[in-house]
Amino acid sequence: MTLHQYITKIDRLYQTGNAREHSYRGDLQNLIMAILPDVLVTNEPARVDCGAPDYVLTRKDVPIGYIEAKDIGVDLASKTLKEQFDRYKSGLTNLVFTDYLEFHFYKEGVFTTKIEIAKIINGAIIPITENFEQFTQLIKNFSLTVTQTIKSPTKLAEMMAGKAKLMADVIEKSLNIDDQNESRTPLKNQMLSFQQMLIHDIDNKSFSDIYAQTIAYGMFAARYHDPTLPTFSRLEAAELIPKSNPFLRKLFQDIAGFDLDYRIVWIVDELVNIFLASDVAQIMKNFGKSTKQEDPVVHFYETFLGEYNPALRKARGVWYTPQPVVNFIVRAVDDILKTEFNLPQGLADTSKIKIKKTIPKFDERSKTKSKITGEQDTEIEVHKVQILDPATGTGTFLAEVVKHIYKKFEGQQGIWSKYVNNDLIPRLNGFELLMASYAMAHLKMDMLLTETGYKPTDEQRFKIFLTNSLEEAHPDSQTLFSSWLSDEADQANAVKRDTPVMVVMGNPPYSGESANKGEWIMSLMEDYKKEPGGKEKLKERNPKWINDDYVKFMRFGQHFIDKNGSGILAFINPHGFLDNPTFRGMRWSLLQSYDKIYTIDLHGNSKKKETAPDGSLDQNVFDIMQGVSINLFVKTGEKKTDDLAQVFHYDLFGKRELKYDFLSNNSIKTIDYKKLPNVAPNYFLVNKDFDIQEIYDEGFKVNEFLLSNSVGVVTAKDAILVEENYKNLIGNVERYYNINVDAQKIQKVTYRPFDNRYVYYDTKLVERSREKVMQHMLNHNNLAVVINKPAQGGPDFYTDVFVTNTIIDQSTFSAMKRSAFICPLTRWVKLIDLNFDIINWSVKYEFVDILNQC
Ligand SMILES: C[S@@+](CC[C@H](N)C(=O)[O-])C[C@H]1O[C@@H](n2cnc3c(N)ncnc32)[C@H](O)[C@@H]1O
Repeated sequence: MTLHQYITKIDRLYQTGNAREHSYRGDLQNLIMAILPDVLVTNEPARVDCGAPDYVLTRKDVPIGYIEAKDIGVDLASKTLKEQFDRYKSGLTNLVFTDYLEFHFYKEGVFTTKIEIAKIINGAIIPITENFEQFTQLIKNFSLTVTQTIKSPTKLAEMMAGKAKLMADVIEKSLNIDDQNESRTPLKNQMLSFQQMLIHDIDNKSFSDIYAQTIAYGMFAARYHDPTLPTFSRLEAAELIPKSNPFLRKLFQDIAGFDLDYRIVWIVDELVNIFLASDVAQIMKNFGKSTKQEDPVVHFYETFLGEYNPALRKARGVWYTPQPVVNFIVRAVDDILKTEFNLPQGLADTSKIKIKKTIPKFDERSKTKSKITGEQDTEIEVHKVQILDPATGTGTFLAEVVKHIYKKFEGQQGIWSKYVNNDLIPRLNGFELLMASYAMAHLKMDMLLTETGYKPTDEQRFKIFLTNSLEEAHPDSQTLFSSWLSDEADQANAVKRDTPVMVVMGNPPYSGESANKGEWIMSLMEDYKKEPGGKEKLKERNPKWINDDYVKFMRFGQHFIDKNGSGILAFINPHGFLDNPTFRGMRWSLLQSYDKIYTIDLHGNSKKKETAPDGSLDQNVFDIMQGVSINLFVKTGEKKTDDLAQVFHYDLFGKRELKYDFLSNNSIKTIDYKKLPNVAPNYFLVNKDFDIQEIYDEGFKVNEFLLSNSVGVVTAKDAILVEENYKNLIGNVERYYNINVDAQKIQKVTYRPFDNRYVYYDTKLVERSREKVMQHMLNHNNLAVVINKPAQGGPDFYTDVFVTNTIIDQSTFSAMKRSAFICPLTRWVKLIDLNFDIINWSVKYEFVDILNQC
């Protein structure tokens, strides 16, 4: 097809008046193929629907450029196209945007030139023939893209991120289309297996995000090991993923194969192109040197995330554990092993112990001896110092253990490789829930060991598993992907079941609303929901904060150490458990299990507006609001069961840098702890003034005095159901719910201190009506005491008391992060037969006399 023929054809279509953007697609395809006979130009609507540009240009199966076409006459600079064009520009290095008449060329996201081959004049498409020659040259030039060698880590991270972003978008669109069509494509099945076996509430968007990052990082890991720089492909990538990472290898074998979802093939191949132009090993070598960062992988990941999703990078500060913290904890564990467990080599210890293991029993009479007839106990030898990070993330703790031990071996390369194979890899265990972090952790371990000169002598895998620490294995749901996941879970389960874990360390996730509610962990959690002494159920109306993920991980760790009979739990986690009254049963359980507890309270609780004792700034070591503490729990197995642990406590306030310096310059042995007594009933693990405890104990609890009590009302729709103006409230409710308002239900509410409003108190519309208690305040001339109840993350003391004659809102003291608590002085009891209410003191009987005397 010539340019003249092209313009004549599209003009003819244009003149019909009902042509759309895709009506011209075939003509442009033919035109480009005529100019570039050795190039395949494909236009597949199904891919386009899933986020691919309209045309993919490939030469010998290698993508070389993309064209995105909009309808004739569409303004290519229009704001409505910006989001899509920006996405393509950051992900695709060689790109053309066109409205079939004008062509804009972009190289590596930068505009290079534009050219017009026709114009609309008086409703007709008129060729601009003088531009034809130049247009043909520009298209030929467009196809001659020589990918530039990528030398800088920043450039590589930027280009990887651009493709990964586009890939996440394509995967998400594909999954959404699968949902619409109710089709179970292999991609959808992978997502469902992931949902069933790992993260139960994951949606298409989050899965796509994790998946795209995993592919990007998997490819990075593969290319890092690639000795043949001139070649790289999906197939090569699959062969190059180290054997130490079996899950990623299997995932990449799928990605390399013919069955890879055709909707994502093109973008995966784009990523291959980026790596084809990069010598990853060389780039990373220089990156480490140029940034002087201790961990080039993580810093490269930071650069990547900065490009991929700046918000995610910010969030990284929330979960990535700072080096001084990790380093302190690892050194502390090493010291404790030496001093408390008589293991002079500390973390490097290689001693072995015998454990019992249940194995299948085979039928001796059968020829192949492969028929299983039952189970039998056998004794096996395993390393004594088994280390587990159950929330491995990017593998910072396990990597720090390797670095710490390696110091002893520097200069003894031969012995080191043997040691790593025989005595290190078999002792380092990690569990991680997120595929991308898991890939990072493997990559980091792999690169770190390579850097130390370690040469693998066998095909040993790293014992870092993609699994949910808090759940037992799920049955394989028969898809390929789920069988890989269940392989991981099975192997992780073998660690959970058989490995005598002696050290549990890490930085568990923190989440008030934990999604981990599996039977196994919830039954273990029952121990923390008892009163100190471990017999009586915890007398707390709503102990839900104890279900935070970090508490579950502490319980998880305690389970392993108890099972082993001795060991160390070393975590950095929120400091709330140290003194929250609801956590008294948990503290007692910890005191009972362990012999010694060291807590270094790093404070930084901005919810409590913490400051240093001298009033100066107190910062968090993470970018989070909850204060945190480093906690080391030691169980030697020598303490008498009835004794409680010795507690050593240290408070560290100040700026973040000061805290980092303190941790870097100190060890567990040099800190000037305060030894804390074990004091019932709360067994606080913080420094309290216990001298006045006796006087305090002479008092009584408010809820023991005023027997009817509750936190305030939550409407969950204040904008509709709460109003200052009576008439406005009626209008709001009628409009929003399309009902006739019942005037009886309009009640006064203490909304904020001295800020009374009207609430439409319909118990069916109000989210939490607390009717059982609030009924005593409705339409009665009653009085109530209002106090503040400590809420999660807020101050743990009562500061405000006042009196009201209305129902109250839970957020009466909202600015102070404390729930408001109402205690009516009298209760009204309906005598149904007589149809009137009688008044009843709500005050505990013993106090009535005292009150009468007042
Ligand atoms: C605070 S981060 C730990 C960061 C890690 N130490 C690092 O520096 O990269 C917590 C990690 O636990 C993982 N995680 C959360 N819930 C988990 C679970 N139930 N099982 C295993 N890992 C989990 C998260 O994905 C996250 O990577």
